[in-house]
Amino acid sequence: MVTLSVIKADIGGYVGHSSSHPDILALAQECLEKAKKDGLLIDYHVTRCGDDLQLIMTHEQGEENERIHKLAWDTFVEGAELARKMGLYGAGQDLLADAFSGNVKGMGPGVAEMQFEERPSEPVIIFMADKTSAGAWNMPLYKMFADPFNTIGLVIAPNMHSGFSFEVQDVKEHKKVTFNAPEEIYDMLIFIGAPSRYMVKSVSQRETGNIAAVSSTQRLALIAGRYVGKDDPVCIVRAQGEFPAVGEILEPFSHPHLVEGWMRGSHHGPFMPVAIHESNPSRFDGPPRVTAAGFQLAGGKLVGPRDMFDDPSFDEARHMANIAAEYMRRHGPFEPHRLPLEEMEYTTMPYVMKKLEGRFTDLE
Ligand code: F6R
Ligand code: MG
Ligand code: MG
Repeated sequence: MVTLSVIKADIGGYVGHSSSHPDILALAQECLEKAKKDGLLIDYHVTRCGDDLQLIMTHEQGEENERIHKLAWDTFVEGAELARKMGLYGAGQDLLADAFSGNVKGMGPGVAEMQFEERPSEPVIIFMADKTSAGAWNMPLYKMFADPFNTIGLVIAPNMHSGFSFEVQDVKEHKKVTFNAPEEIYDMLIFIGAPSRYMVKSVSQRETGNIAAVSSTQRLALIAGRYVGKDDPVCIVRAQGEFPAVGEILEPFSHPHLVEGWMRGSHHGPFMPVAIHESNPSRFDGPPRVTAAGFQLAGGKLVGPRDMFDDPSFDEARHMANIAAEYMRRHGPFEPHRLPLEEMEYTTMPYVMKKLEGRFTDLE
């Protein structure tokens, strides 16, 4: 069994929150190279999405393994030190704990991990996002695994016809529930259509029980109890055979749907699919970005990546995203561009209310 772990954190931005500095990536590369030489990792790939450092690792230690999580944590801590020295922006921003305590969950970094029996050929796509929250995966995962208008394989591929099950988490109440698609999609959509609270954590193949997709569902704001940045989530999806084809997995991103995040984590904006080198959210700190790194696994080795959105067939989605961004921006400080009061990650409401104390009077 191989485990694919993607652990990510924003440990410092360059410039502002727009991107990552190459020296930070080089340092992370050194840390993981050492772990590979020591035999802890089978393989790794270091990349970034916007200002988030992404550690993609394969190993045989299983999910939530202390050594793997410590490796990621230590790499982030070293990176944050360098970021501080270089004066990068928000150095150490996602490292919410002072010391490692067995597992990076709840400590700030985002985690998506899956353990599985590698198939003779194992294509996987790792989606990475910046300037948005984990609910951003709900619509694409629904389309990939439950919508025949997106995934024709659900209709015409005998090995996918029995459908997929979705584990959905209620991040406010800390509860989870599993839905079977297609027969429970109406029940499921009442929840996952509200992505600020209900997030798809994983998807499994119903006939084989095999894991198909896993997302990171940490909500930094809920962990810290105050604003500490958007989650900037990741999601791993297995492709082909009993799973959707690579093209069916990428297809949902041809529509740049509106997600939460963008400037000050307090706006709705279009989710723009871009090549990794173009994941530098700049206009109004956005619009939110999604990148896709494709790999073939071979005995746990990461053959790749192929930069999956580096393709002209996504030009129209980018164009549409720019038009949607402009349309949303013209709302300025008004909803629905601005998030509802309780979802904003920055607010002055308590201070303003206090200042106005006594000036609010009852309506007639
Ligand atoms: C959104 C984000 C940025 C910052 C903004 C202000 O997720 O990271 O839009 O919120 O640039 O940043 P601070 O408060 O760090 O100056
Ligand atoms: Mg940042
Ligand atoms: Mg970020």
